[in-house]
Amino acid sequence: MRVFHVVGARPNFMKLAPVHRALKQVPGIDQLVVHTGQHYDFNMSDVFFQELGMGAPDINLGVGSGSHAQQTAAIMAQFEPVVLNNRPDMVLVYGDVNSTVAAALVCSKLQVPVAHVEAGLRSFDRNMPEEINRLITDQLADILFTPSEDGNRNLEREGVPAERIHLVGNVMIDTLVQMLPSCEKHLPPGLPSKFALVTMHRPSNVDDPEWLSCLVKTLTDLSSDIDILFPVHPRTRERIHQLGMNGAGRIQWMDPASYLVFLALQKRATVVITDSGGIQEETTYLGVPCLTMRENTERPVTVTVGTNQLVGRDFARLKTEFRNILNGQSKKGSKPPLWEGKAADRIAQVLTSGYASTRAASA
Ligand code: UD1
Repeated sequence: MRVFHVVGARPNFMKLAPVHRALKQVPGIDQLVVHTGQHYDFNMSDVFFQELGMGAPDINLGVGSGSHAQQTAAIMAQFEPVVLNNRPDMVLVYGDVNSTVAAALVCSKLQVPVAHVEAGLRSFDRNMPEEINRLITDQLADILFTPSEDGNRNLEREGVPAERIHLVGNVMIDTLVQMLPSCEKHLPPGLPSKFALVTMHRPSNVDDPEWLSCLVKTLTDLSSDIDILFPVHPRTRERIHQLGMNGAGRIQWMDPASYLVFLALQKRATVVITDSGGIQEETTYLGVPCLTMRENTERPVTVTVGTNQLVGRDFARLKTEFRNILNGQSKKGSKPPLWEGKAADRIAQVLTSGYASTRAASA
């Protein structure tokens, strides 16, 4: 059985690692990792492959940046001949980035089965490019692996046949569980004893200069209460640079952090402020308070079960909740079901039992 994994952007890599490792244990499976090149900076891509012990991708399509249409089209055009030349039996796509939907589209037209890891998540906000990617990928996928119950309900409501949907848990947490014991030694030297950790890169938070400058002013204000560490995504860095605003307060602007460094920082942080999806999940697992600067989340379980609070696009609310946390009044949470480190094993089981029954049927 020949399995392709298609990844392209930073949040894909930690989802790929455990699935790749689990399938490696299964005799007769030949795996090939295709990196689309959507992310290409060393610290947005290569460092993750190194730290997660995956070796370099087998194929890199090198598509790079562009508008959504340009990037998605470039991935499709480059990926199609790879599929035609290698004829995979199954293609696994991860998460909700442009690489995910592009690969799913190519495969469905070539009638190559697609499995979507992290299926069913919905923010119900079609202004987010990721929501469009999720909706389309899930309509095209043959097998849908969900991280939480809400994913199953969303897919069933959209008419996806129940037999295609498998609740397996969260593969991102598989990687976290594996790497947590060794992350502490990657903490950067000279850290303040207490700090808040910030990440921000969504178009809704960084593309509008007026909004972004209010955000940076608010963070500068908050840094009078506690040091703030801010590893900056390239997209955010460029926007902040254009505003000329990266000088004030006790904010440490850092390059994007590697997986292990960022995990160690999250574990130590007093509070995390973010607009990322994956960080809402990781803080929930770690029990660290998280304030999400979005009006909605495709990961509601981090709010209903975990430590996440949506503060919306509301700076006054952000300040209030932030100060509550510093005063020891943080929201308590617990870990969602099946977020325990074995999601990839369950994925491997589903994929290989399907394969075994197909082989038996054709024998
Ligand atoms: C993408 C995903 C988003 C995910 C995020 C994680 C989509 C639609 N969005 O957004 O869901 O949360 O990755 O980081 O797929 N750039 C670099 N170096 C890089 C990569 C990007 O400098 O290695 C810069 C480029 O200027 C590029 C910009 O960042 O134009 C945005 O990159 P892009 O891949 O288009 O989207 P992200 O914002 O990273």
